Amino acid sequence: MTLSRRNFVRILGGGAVFAAAAGGAWAGTRDPFSARAPWRVAGIDGTDIRRFALSYAVLAPNPHNRQPWLVRLDGTDSLTLYCELDRRLPQTDPFDRQITVGLGAFLEILSMAAAEHGWRAEIAAFPQGEPHPRLDRRPVAQVRFRRDGTEKDPLFGWVQQRRTNRNVYDGRPVAAAMLGQVTGTVRQARMGSTNDPARREALSALAIAALAMEMKLPRTVRETVDALRVGKAEIDRRPDGIALAGPVVEGAYELGLFSPADLLDPDSSISVRERANEHKQIGSSAAFAWLVTDGNSRADQIAAGRDYLRFCLAATAAGFSMQPLSQALQEYPEMAGHYRDMRRELGVGANETLQMFVRLGYGPAVEPAPRWPYESRIRA
Ligand SMILES: Cc1cc2nc3c(=O)[nH]c(=O)nc-3n(C[C@H](O)[C@H](O)[C@H](O)COP(=O)(O)O)c2cc1C
Repeated sequence: MTLSRRNFVRILGGGAVFAAAAGGAWAGTRDPFSARAPWRVAGIDGTDIRRFALSYAVLAPNPHNRQPWLVRLDGTDSLTLYCELDRRLPQTDPFDRQITVGLGAFLEILSMAAAEHGWRAEIAAFPQGEPHPRLDRRPVAQVRFRRDGTEKDPLFGWVQQRRTNRNVYDGRPVAAAMLGQVTGTVRQARMGSTNDPARREALSALAIAALAMEMKLPRTVRETVDALRVGKAEIDRRPDGIALAGPVVEGAYELGLFSPADLLDPDSSISVRERANEHKQIGSSAAFAWLVTDGNSRADQIAAGRDYLRFCLAATAAGFSMQPLSQALQEYPEMAGHYRDMRRELGVGANETLQMFVRLGYGPAVEPAPRWPYESRIRA
């Protein structure tokens, strides 16, 4: 069978034809099984509360799945968390705000996991001072584990079910009461939400425009292209970034019918198709939610990440699918207009910081994203 690039892209977009391109046996082996192993084995290592908690913390949501966490175990009851600096995203996240939010989500899971066995994780964020304008080699947090019978958090049970879901949602409405319940789980940040159709339309248009800007600029789209991992072998070898898995994608990639680098050309058929898909995906959102902090200190960013994680788990428990849409929140010059418009639409105050913007709805089930095993994130 020959597939032109254009036809292949049509198949990808339609998502219809798994069986057509891929004969049974080979197709059945294309899941990146080992890259998803950390989701299955979390909690198995019970010898040390720090290792137990770390095996869950690496499942935290984080920008482009860069997994910037690096940990040093100190003595018998403490650890230090660092950011691995070359895992940042300097073009789309020039002040490392989003990377820090992801590290906050990591710390929230760490703390919840420790509580499962009655341990309190005492977290001191940026104990040697807050790095600005970018992160540096100083620790992100020092954590001491103390067994004091601290209570379990009921949200913890959803850690292994949580996913970022980039699919088209099915159009079912999200009830305001449930939305309120989910956004009410945050502790430090302010969370807003809407399911109002007119507001949804305005917010979708802003998110789509901001995404188009990111996809148009070669230096920002390059960060996405570099994060893409295509096919089982590549995903298992480098279990980070955004995985494109499955027999159709992998088969077409092997046949040379597409390459992630095609996205660098805004006129390529894959870029055109991608933009159409994004319209459909964002347009299918049943609700939006956003998280705002009073300031934008590193401590605020960590708090935002911790709260974002709580929100994600509560949304998972409620049966929602969710996807952050971060483009309009990004702090690089070309995005300034969209940044201003989004803040205005959401009523974010002059001194406040919009830390997360997320779409919600009901989407098809998705597989967990790849992760490096937690052991590989422990430094000597
Ligand atoms: C601060 C932050 C910003 C993010 N921005 C986006 C985004 O703009 N678009 C998107 O699809 N996912 C976004 N994500 C989700 C990550 O890509 C996702 O967490 C990562 O790929 C791992 O997948 P998982 O959440 O399914 O475990 C963001 C996550 C965080 C923490």
